[in-house]
Amino acid sequence: MTMQRTFSILKPDATERNLTGKINAVFESNGLRIVAQKRIRMSRLQAGAFYGVHKERPFYQELVEYMVSGPVVVQVLEGENAVQKHRDIMGATNPANAAPGTIRKEFAESIERNSVHGSDSLENAETEIRFFFSGTEIVG
Ligand code: CMP
Repeated sequence: MTMQRTFSILKPDATERNLTGKINAVFESNGLRIVAQKRIRMSRLQAGAFYGVHKERPFYQELVEYMVSGPVVVQVLEGENAVQKHRDIMGATNPANAAPGTIRKEFAESIERNSVHGSDSLENAETEIRFFFSGTEIVG
């Protein structure tokens, strides 16, 4: 177990339904600390680049349009084993497969409108954090 930082996004379906506080409470009660956070409107360029790894997937264009459709909250979360812990708390990408008690089971509307994004590895967490935050914006 090591102290880690991971990257998180509260997606447009979550901000639209005013769920920011409820989802953050789940992170905090599970030992994740919000060490950086900002509410932004992503540009198409940003969303396209952020999800560039999915460029060849059939859902890519729709995913980009969805991510720019409303405000999102980008976050850096810190804690023991934060990358895996955050993924466990989020649950499976498709809410239909998400375990009871997970954020996606509780709040997500569909595989696209799945309320939260989380980094899938420590390496990607570092890249994704750097994509949205400068060092001085992260206060541990
Ligand atoms: P996220 O964890 O943000 O990473 C990529 C996103 O693509 C994922 O959550 C889903 O919201 C979305 N996604 C993955 N698979 C599909 C799919 N089959 N159809 C639509 N969106 C998808």
